[in-house]
Amino acid sequence: MSSNKSIDLSHHLNTLSRSRVPSPLKYVVDYMNQPGMISLAGGLPHPSAFPYNTVNLEVYSPDADIAPTSTKAKTTMDISVAKDISPDRPNNLSVALQYGASTGSKSLSLFLHDFAKRVFRPAYSDFQVLLHFGNTDGWNKVVNLFCEPGDYILIEEHTYPSSQALWAPMGCRGVPVSMDKDGIIPDALECVLQEWEDSHPGTKRPHLLYIVPTGQNPTGSTIPVERKKLIYDICVKYDVIICEDDPYYFLQMPNYTPVSDRCTHESVLPVHDESVIDGALLDALVPTFVSLDYQGRVIRLETFSKTMGPGNRLGYFVCNPLFSERLVRASEVTTQAPAGWSQAIVEEHLKAWKYEGYIRWLFGLRQLYTIRRDWLCDLIFSEFDVLPSPDGIPHDYIALPKGHGKRMDANPKSKYIFSFSAPKGGMFVWVQLNLNNHPKFEGIRASGEEYPEEKLETQIWMELIREKLLLTPGSFYSPVLGPNQRMKREKGVAFFRLAFSFETREDMEKGVKRMARVFERSWGFAELLN
Ligand SMILES: Cc1ncc(COP(=O)(O)O)c(C=O)c1O
Repeated sequence: MSSNKSIDLSHHLNTLSRSRVPSPLKYVVDYMNQPGMISLAGGLPHPSAFPYNTVNLEVYSPDADIAPTSTKAKTTMDISVAKDISPDRPNNLSVALQYGASTGSKSLSLFLHDFAKRVFRPAYSDFQVLLHFGNTDGWNKVVNLFCEPGDYILIEEHTYPSSQALWAPMGCRGVPVSMDKDGIIPDALECVLQEWEDSHPGTKRPHLLYIVPTGQNPTGSTIPVERKKLIYDICVKYDVIICEDDPYYFLQMPNYTPVSDRCTHESVLPVHDESVIDGALLDALVPTFVSLDYQGRVIRLETFSKTMGPGNRLGYFVCNPLFSERLVRASEVTTQAPAGWSQAIVEEHLKAWKYEGYIRWLFGLRQLYTIRRDWLCDLIFSEFDVLPSPDGIPHDYIALPKGHGKRMDANPKSKYIFSFSAPKGGMFVWVQLNLNNHPKFEGIRASGEEYPEEKLETQIWMELIREKLLLTPGSFYSPVLGPNQRMKREKGVAFFRLAFSFETREDMEKGVKRMARVFERSWGFAELLN
């Protein structure tokens, strides 16, 4: 690990966060924990009043076969957390369910610090790990650490809606950075920052970038490491803090191969030897932003939501000590530490699995989502005529109605319905609709509609819902530029997000068939075929 320390970035803190002082009650906890101290200070409920003795859980073994195609019984193991305190059991219900420091369980934090060092590999030595309630909570705390009302925040051109619903009511404004299938474009980021004084005279240049680097929600894009380096260097040059919200990091997949060229899924999970899996998983993952961060300007939001279940409401920051300390001050007076149940159970679970077992589990998730991603992409291939994208279309494939691909060889570009790329991570396929050849589009535009693309997108969305298929429309992810002001789309372009994380293969098939039927009817292809 690198020996250099984080630099002083305190000038990024907002007034609120600079002004926070330690909560006096939490301060007393440090004294309480001193050996030999008799405390009549804290108003702690006595643990005998907690009506819980032991929690016993049957959990999956790390190598349980969770592939959706598997018919094997899942192997399990038992874990338990008892109430009693004993020297060899730092994890116990008397402490977990008690008030305590807002940093949460020390032993869990130590496990995660070691994990972060081995897997995320921060490029500075004094990084810290601080528990939070999941990335929603993490992002809330980050915005309240840095942003003043009215600030501009750098965001992706299509962005996770809850992230902006947080800062929009504070009067903050999004500054969208253009994307392609590999995420935000470094030149576009540089351009925004370089031209800031001319494009936004008299305003403060944005100093916070919110980014979802892996299996981005909604576009599914994963930023390659070379691009991450360029983005990081630009952020150093313009003194921008990066918040990497990376819930899909462990759901990275091998490239998609269309079914006609594919042999088997075996290559995804070739071996069961844990030492090999550790290396194989780490090699397969694109390095994180923190691994490039020699200054401590990246705050990584890590969550157990996509790897152990969102209901745990547990995650952690990986960040520099100054930011971590200010985040603790904020937690003391807002959320306090994450729920004791979650901490105790996740800690016991991870200790039973050990580092190697957790890595093994994460490797299994990779296989699970690869199979699901392939199901959805295969179905799109089978229900549409899919061709490699001609030049000028920012995705790998274009999809035409079935039976039209061959007839339109001469000019498929003018007749495709949507373009898409098979994601290399996450849970989503993002389809970009080609409205320019939709029979209603010109009429809507001519009517003077302010957002004609979104109007037609909503109409098609309702057609899909009537056919009993629910997708999420692209408008949900449109950047908020200011009060009641959303970004305008490129002409003739609309989007839908399809999730492959949840439905069965059979339901996915029905869904994609419904989508094909609705699209063909909506674009008027059904009549053309007759
Ligand atoms: C980009 C992104 N950030 C955060 C979240 C929420 O994460 P958590 O459950 O950890 O709050 C999601 C969930 O869908 C997400 O896609």
